[in-house]
This record gives sequence, C-alpha cells and structure tokens, in this order.
Amino acid sequence: MNILILGSGGREYVFTEKIAKSTECKKLFVAPGNAGTAQIAENINLSPTDFKSIAKFSLENNIDMIVVGPEAPLVEGIRDYFEGDEKLKQIQIIGPGKAGAELEGSKEFAKSFMHRHNIPTAAYSTFNKSTLSEGLSYLQTLKPPYVLKADGLAGGKGVVICENLPTAEKSLTEMLRDEKFGAASEKVVIEEFLSGIELSVFVLTDGENYKILPAAKDYKRIGEGDTGLNTGGMGAVSPVKFADANFMEKVESKIIKPTVDGLKKDKIDYQGFIFIGLMNVGGEPYVIEYNVRMGDPETQVVLPRLKSDLLSIFKSLKSQELNKEEFIISEQTAATIVLVAGGYPESYEKGKVIKGLEDVENAKVYHAGTAQNDNEIVTAGGRVLAITGIGDDLNISLKNAYAGANKVCWDDIYYRKDIGQDLLALE
Ligand code: AMP
Ligand code: GLY
Repeated sequence: MNILILGSGGREYVFTEKIAKSTECKKLFVAPGNAGTAQIAENINLSPTDFKSIAKFSLENNIDMIVVGPEAPLVEGIRDYFEGDEKLKQIQIIGPGKAGAELEGSKEFAKSFMHRHNIPTAAYSTFNKSTLSEGLSYLQTLKPPYVLKADGLAGGKGVVICENLPTAEKSLTEMLRDEKFGAASEKVVIEEFLSGIELSVFVLTDGENYKILPAAKDYKRIGEGDTGLNTGGMGAVSPVKFADANFMEKVESKIIKPTVDGLKKDKIDYQGFIFIGLMNVGGEPYVIEYNVRMGDPETQVVLPRLKSDLLSIFKSLKSQELNKEEFIISEQTAATIVLVAGGYPESYEKGKVIKGLEDVENAKVYHAGTAQNDNEIVTAGGRVLAITGIGDDLNISLKNAYAGANKVCWDDIYYRKDIGQDLLALE
C-alpha cells in the first residue's frame, strides 16, 4: 500500500515509524513532516488543509490511505471531500467526516451530544453575543471557579478558567462582544467546574466495533508543578495507575459504549480515533472534551506500547472488521519528555542547531519541530523533540526518558523535570 500521513509533529513521527514497519507498506509520504520523518519516509511540502493539492498528489502517487494527524483537516471535511469525488473515494481516510469531527470542532455540539446520550459531563449552558446579558446572569448562579469555553477551534487556547466572578464576567464579555477568539468565540459554553485528576482515553472505532487503546496522562502547563501557560503538552505517561480495571469498566460502560452507540443513533459514520479527555471525580469519570484524533504527546507513549501491526488495524476500519484485529498491548510503562524552544508557548526562535541526538541510548527520539539544514538538524517549532523511555515501572521509564533528554542540547532548550512525579506520589 502507498500511504500519506498528514501533519508534522511528534504524533505524526510515531505514526510514520509504526507504519514504515508494516510489511504491507510500500511507499510512505508525510505532508509536510519534519527532519525525523524525512529519514524514514518522503516529506512532501503540502499543507494538511490544502485538499486540492493533497488530492492531486494522491492520484499521481497511487495513494491508498491517508492518515490524518491533526484535527484541522478533519474539522474542515477532508473525508467528505474525498468521498464526494468519484476518483478519490477509494482512498481510505483514517479519521471521521465533518459531522463526526464536530465532536472536537464545536464544544456546544459535543455537550449536546453528551446530554442527548446520557454521557456524564459537567452541567452547561451556551450563550452568544445577543444573549450576553443572560450569560452574565447565569455566571451569578454558579460557584467559582468559572469555566468558559469558546465553541470553535482556538488552537488549544479557547478554554478560560476564572477564579472569581469579576474576571469571569470580563472574559465572557471579551469572548462574546469583543470576539477575542474570532469566529471560534461566537458562541461560548459556560460549564460547571469539575475537581479531580485528568486522564486521556483513546478509542479506535470503525463505526460498528471499537477497541480501547492504553490510557495516558499528559502535562499541559509549561511550568513545573502544573504552573504557567497552557501548551500543546510537555510530557505524558502510560499507563495511568489510578485508571485501574474498575475505573476503566465505568469508562467503557458510561462513556465509550454510549459514545459509539450515540454516533450510530445520530447516523454519524465515524471511522477513526476518539480521544476522550476525562476527569476522575471521586472515582467517577466525567468527559471534559472529545478530540477526533490522537493526542500529542500522548501518542508518543500509547503507540510504543501497541505491539500489533498498525497498518493492518487501520485497514480493517474500511471493511468494519476491527473486531477481528489483534491488539497486543505491552505491560510496560512509557514516559515521554517534550523538549521545547525557550519562550514557547509564547514567541521563540528557530534554527538552533540540535546536538547529541546520536548519544541517546535506551530511549526513543521522536522528532516534532525539527528541520534539516545542510548537514545539521535544527529547531523549527516550539515543541522540538519528544524523548520516550520504556521500563517495567514508571520510575524506570522516567529514568530512561530523562537520561535520553539530558544527552540532547541546543541553545535555548527547556523541559519540565517533574513529569510523572504526581503519579509516583500517588503510588
Ligand atoms: P479543553 O481544551 O477542553 O481540554 O480544556 C482545557 C483544560 O481546561 C482541560 O484539560 C482541563 O484541565 C480544564 N477544564 C476544562 N473543562 C473543565 C471543567 N469543566 N472543570 C475543570 N477543569 C476543566
Ligand atoms: N495533548 C493534548 C492534545 O493532543 O490535545
């Protein structure tokens, strides 16, 4: 098979590495990819949302399957674009169509979906510019902290948590009246604050059957002790000990089954990943958010634990035979540390020479924001590399990951030194 992977981060690097190992993979392309994917596959300089160019490239190169890494092409309807064209429709897309991608593309859609299918989530109400005053009154009925969510995609910045009523009122006004997040905040969901520990659960579905992948915990804030600005993710670990069999049974019966059944009932044809962000509130799972793709950096700890052939699993989605696929999951623990450019998630420099990559032992180096510049690999993004360590327990996997991270350097490298420490403290 000839396969095209869309995206350029650590998640897409892991997909590239896994799929390259499959005996059925003939030609492998990544658009646009990074310096690491260029070593295993062929990078193509195309934007993942430039459907016209992707379609042309796919036809010229006899592409059989497109694996979509990030959410934007899915929310913009890449699947519908291919399925609606006689020449393109035989190309299998890994990811849902536009209707299913609304689970991530619209917070209001996701909340009403959960409400309709009795899936546990925080109580909520939605407001727009013309109902701003009702929104301000609604805030007065809630207790702090206040959770405000821009309805649409806002690059991970659309959720604002306010400690007191005046800041919540100011934020709501900025979002609705002043269009702080542009079209994404035309509508705002205000929801009840849930207190607990978060974890990410990943499901792959062919629309009929589903398989649950290993759960993971990610670390979203830039600073140690979960402080500072939100980022795309600074590290992750899998498995998560508190997500034991008893908790996961609740997740499956109260959340996963109703989600897959709900999509069917709503006649939404869904083939791809469902990433469920959960809060464990006193032993009960509540959905914080759905994403319609894998997580980054969660993929860097989830997929290394999947021993089965990923391409064979992907292929089975088309014929809705996912139930016949083998899912062998390693018992080992994986931990990943994301190495970022100084200044990220705000402004940062690019083009710094990365040294020490070849000295990393006992850990996997996953490229993200990297580029090749003559004979050197240089930084080309905020999140530059993810270093994953594997071990029999969390301690060993963290040791391996940090030993690997310590070997790598560039001018303004930064990473958190406390990934996994909160989970070790629970053990
Ligand atoms: P989201 O973009 O929906 O993942 O939200 C970003 C972060 O905000 C989540 O990872 C949570 O830490 C936090 N968050 C979102 N919704 C809630 C809620 N209802 N209660 C508490 N924290 C929340
Ligand atoms: N790490 C969170 C995400 O991929 O959305």
